[in-house]
Amino acid sequence: MLKKKQLADSASDDFAEDVLRSLKADPPSISSKWLYDTQGSALFEDITQVEDYYLTRTEAAIFDEAFPALAAMFGPGMAVTEFGSGASIKTRRLLSALAPDIYVPIDVAEEFLQDAAEDLHTLFPELEIIPLVADLTAPYELPAAFTRKKRRLGFFPGSTIGNFPEDVAARFLRGAREALGDGAHLLISADLVKKTEYLERAYDDSEGVTQKFTLNLLERMNKELAADFDIAKFRHVSMFNTQKSRIEIYIESLADQAVEVAGETFAFVKGDRVRTEYSYKYTPGSFAQLLEKSGWHLKQTWMDPKGWFGVFLASA
Ligand code: TRP
Repeated sequence: MLKKKQLADSASDDFAEDVLRSLKADPPSISSKWLYDTQGSALFEDITQVEDYYLTRTEAAIFDEAFPALAAMFGPGMAVTEFGSGASIKTRRLLSALAPDIYVPIDVAEEFLQDAAEDLHTLFPELEIIPLVADLTAPYELPAAFTRKKRRLGFFPGSTIGNFPEDVAARFLRGAREALGDGAHLLISADLVKKTEYLERAYDDSEGVTQKFTLNLLERMNKELAADFDIAKFRHVSMFNTQKSRIEIYIESLADQAVEVAGETFAFVKGDRVRTEYSYKYTPGSFAQLLEKSGWHLKQTWMDPKGWFGVFLASA
């Protein structure tokens, strides 16, 4: 059964307004959420396949081990919610392994959410799917059909929590704790600290796909915001900030130039940078700490043999 999607109070922000505001800020940035238009989402899919981006395949290998363990732990018929659209292969693998009764995918991107839910419904006709549109960093409520269930699991794969600054990450985790309720579990992935060289490569792959992904944002602004970026005059930069334990992604100007965006002019000096993403990297210890201070109790950790990536099971 596929239920009609439910809408939480997610303000649909305006691309132009958001870009103009954040470009004028000091330091300038553009929210990473705008990276994922149709072209950007396709390019991100490509990133997950490149050799240098070890995250996706490493996580998949860990899930090979973790999913059967979880299935044995919980048994069939539980309630699962996923923070994210549910379009990915890992969702299908989790649903196959756990055989839950109810699945609630939560995402801000309404359209993707509905499409993903329809695809899943074809694959799992018996599963009750209740898509929920919500901003994960603001309060939201899970449907009663979900909270009524005794065994409840939240699923947050992909190390997406790394894209939240620490205060937002903690807010998200507390919100999930609140929404999922006492006795629930959370299965969450986090990319781990490793040699700077490997981290920076993962975000600036030798095939140039990440470069394309980042610069697609300029193309998107050209198309949608009547901007006139000359893509050849910018480059993508990936830098690991050791102090803050995060990858920082920038668009860097390769020349002194002026660019029009939505009717306003922005001057760039050669070397000027606009930040588009942070990706925080944890240690098993720092991630356990984050979980504990956000109302979760760490129960089990799975890692690949090199200790590059972690999958954490926590309970409320
Ligand atoms: N969640 C992904 C990550 O932090 C997002 C991502 C991968 C990304 N590569 C990127 C974001 C390059 C911006 C640019 O690993």
